[in-house]
Amino acid sequence: MNLEDMTHQSVKFGLIGFGAWGGCHANAINVTEGAEIVAIAVRSEESQSKAREAYPDAQVYGDYRELLANEEIEAVDIVLPSFLHHEVAKDALEAGKHLLLEKPMTLTVEDCRELVEIAQSQNVNLAIGHELRLSSLWARAKEMIDEGVIGDPQYVLVELSRRPYRPGASGWRFDLDRVGNWILEEPIHFFDLARWYLSSAGEPETVYAKANSRDPEHPELQDNFSAIMNWSGGQYAVVTQTLSAFEHHQTAKITGTKGAIWASWSGAMDRTRHPTFFLKAFDGEEVQEIKLERSPGELFELEDQIAMLVNAIRNEGPIACPGEDGMWSVAMCLAAQKSVDENRPIKLEEVL
Ligand SMILES: NC(=O)c1ccc[n+]([C@@H]2O[C@H](COP(=O)([O-])OP(=O)(O)OC[C@H]3O[C@@H](n4cnc5c(N)ncnc54)[C@H](OP(=O)(O)O)[C@@H]3O)[C@@H](O)[C@H]2O)c1
Repeated sequence: MNLEDMTHQSVKFGLIGFGAWGGCHANAINVTEGAEIVAIAVRSEESQSKAREAYPDAQVYGDYRELLANEEIEAVDIVLPSFLHHEVAKDALEAGKHLLLEKPMTLTVEDCRELVEIAQSQNVNLAIGHELRLSSLWARAKEMIDEGVIGDPQYVLVELSRRPYRPGASGWRFDLDRVGNWILEEPIHFFDLARWYLSSAGEPETVYAKANSRDPEHPELQDNFSAIMNWSGGQYAVVTQTLSAFEHHQTAKITGTKGAIWASWSGAMDRTRHPTFFLKAFDGEEVQEIKLERSPGELFELEDQIAMLVNAIRNEGPIACPGEDGMWSVAMCLAAQKSVDENRPIKLEEVL
């Protein structure tokens, strides 16, 4: 098939990983115009059977390398336990595939940097799964900051209160060798948001963090986590999360030299299509409740993320979170963990 024929066709996706979130990715690809799920690679026989049943037209593999060898696949979507991201992403990029890689991009900055370089040399898109950047709520807040509604942003708070993490297939999420640390699991999204909201201030310089655990046998599994991140101009962000709570309630508050933004999202769990939410903005004169174009939530944003990659591949459109930003998110989390471990502020340059 020549290039011109391909540009009018759906982008053929291969999905690697078909667990709790991988199943949501499969659905998002399936419902997105211009995207088609043609193959799924997953480890166990049981998960392979589930994939065959759910997507009878897709080729199902036990070995992801077979999926990568399938030449009809243009884009690969990796939704594996975090310790496998680097190896599998590297193979996918070297096979010349466009890539959507779930967060955390990898477990080390060095590995992230390597993926960015390979994607550049292969001239393929590398998108990282920080889907909050596509949200009708969290991204609307960013638009309002960029429109100057609050003046120069000076302070960001991103806060989450939720039920405990799921253990994941073979309990990978409760094992530091496979998860990296728990800051890389969920607070990574909030570090990404905070840095994005304060992008006019340049890059963050230091982070100081504190954490504790409910389980005395496992102090490394941090149920409560808070960090303060500083910019050279005096701007700062607070990222804070507890896993010792219930349901899923996230807030962001951003204040500037002129006004303030308050965004809130609540659901019985993170994966609901029926959340409650609001966005309020104060421009220094009046408080307005901002009407959103559509309901926010990670299931919706996931679909937008797939559509965005399709548009990037077919029309050279933008990517919400490219590899460089995924790398920064990992760096902020690693600096925060180092700060917890050493009980001192850490300069980002120590981990970059
Ligand atoms: N952006 C977001 O909001 C978001 C939300 C949730 C998760 N995530 C990320 O998505 C990734 C997957 O999370 P998940 O919740 O879907 O995990 P999960 O439910 O545990 O699914 C993991 C999948 O990977 C497969 N797998 C392949 N090799 C494996 C190995 N060596 N050990 C364990 N599993 C292996 C599993 O196959 P079997 O079923 O055959 O074991 C399963 O299909 C993680 O990186 C996580 O951080 C991102």
